[in-house]
Amino acid sequence: QAHHLTLNLIRLAGMLPPVSAALRQIYSVPEMPVQAFGLRFPTPVGLAAGYDKDGLGWRGLAALGFGHIEIGTVTPLPQNGNPRPRVFRLPPAQGVINRMGFPGQGAEFVSRQLAGKKRPPGLVLGVNLGKNKATPNEEAASDYLNLMRVFAPLADYLAINISSPNTVGLRALQGKAALSALLAEIAAERQAQASQLSRPVPVLVKLAPDLSDSELDDALEAILQAGMDGVIATNTTISREPLGAYAGLNPQTAAETGGLSGAPLEAMSTAMVKKIVQRTGSKLPVIGVGGIMDAAGARRKLDAGAVLVQVYSGLVYAGPGLVQQIVTGLKTDLPRSN
Ligand code: FNR
Repeated sequence: QAHHLTLNLIRLAGMLPPVSAALRQIYSVPEMPVQAFGLRFPTPVGLAAGYDKDGLGWRGLAALGFGHIEIGTVTPLPQNGNPRPRVFRLPPAQGVINRMGFPGQGAEFVSRQLAGKKRPPGLVLGVNLGKNKATPNEEAASDYLNLMRVFAPLADYLAINISSPNTVGLRALQGKAALSALLAEIAAERQAQASQLSRPVPVLVKLAPDLSDSELDDALEAILQAGMDGVIATNTTISREPLGAYAGLNPQTAAETGGLSGAPLEAMSTAMVKKIVQRTGSKLPVIGVGGIMDAAGARRKLDAGAVLVQVYSGLVYAGPGLVQQIVTGLKTDLPRSN
C-alpha cells in the first residue's frame, strides 16, 4: 500500500510539469555520463525492475535523478500475481522479502504508457520481460518473442528476466540447454526486427545470485554465444543465509517465502558481478544491482567491474534522495561508509 501511494504521487508529479520541474531541481544530480550497450546514460544509477511494473510512474521517477529506469517485469497478458501479503520489510537488516509473482496489467497496457510519451531529456528506458505464470517453460520463448515485438520499438534496451524466484520454474530457464535454446530464438527475433528499427535493440539477461559457479559458467557461455549485449546481476536471492549476520529480526518475517533483497544481498550480488567480469574477461558489460544502500555500496559494485548500477530496496530505506546522494558521492568519491 505504501508503494502504491508513493507511485501514485510520483505519477501525478510526472503529469504536472511544474511539479516535476521542482522535483528535478530538488533532486538534481550532476552529469556523470556512461557509454554502454551503444547507449549514453547520463549517470550510472538506474531504477531496478519491479518498482514501476506497469510503466505508470517513469516520468515522475526520472525527476528523482535516475539515469535509466527499467520498467516491468511485463508479461504478455495481465495477471494478478500472488495473494497478499507478498512484500515484507526486515528493518534491522535493511532487507526486503517479496513474492509478488509478476502482477501487472500486461504488455498492451504497458505499451500504451510508453508509446508517443515525451521522454525526460537523456533518460534511458529499459523494459524487463517475463513469461506469464500460465505459460509452460516449453512455450516460454513465444512469450518473450511476443514481448520483444511489442517493446523493441519503444524501449532503449530489453532485459530478459529468467531469474525471479516467484514464478514456479522460471529460473530453470537459466540452465544451459534451456537458455541456449531461448537466447537463440531471441537473437533471431532481434535480427529479424533490425531491418525495421534504426538499430538492433540491446538485449540484457538478468541472472539470479543463487547460481553455482558451474551454472554461472554455463549461463555466461550461452549468453556470449547468442551475442547478447550484457548481464544484469543480480535478482533477489532465495537464500536466507545472509540474514544470520543480523540481530533483532522477526523470525516469522525472516522465514517468509520469496526473494530477499536489500543490504543482506549486497555481498552475494557484488561477488557475482566480480565473477562475471572475471569469467568473461570484461566482454559482457554488467549492470550491478543488489543491496546498494548508499554511495559507498554503489562504488563497491563499480569496483567489482559493473558499468552501471541499479537500486530498489535502498529507496525503501533511504528515501527519494538516494539517487542524488549516490551520484554526488560517486562524483566526489566519498570514503566508504563501512
Ligand atoms: C523486485 N525485483 C524484480 N526484478 C525483476 O527483474 N522483475 C520484477 O518484477 C521485480 N520485482 C521486484 C519487486 C520487489 C518488491 C522487490 C524488492 C524487488 C528485484 C529487483 O529488481 C532487484 O534485482 C533486487 O531487489 C536487488 O536489488 P536491491 O533491491 O537490493 O537494490
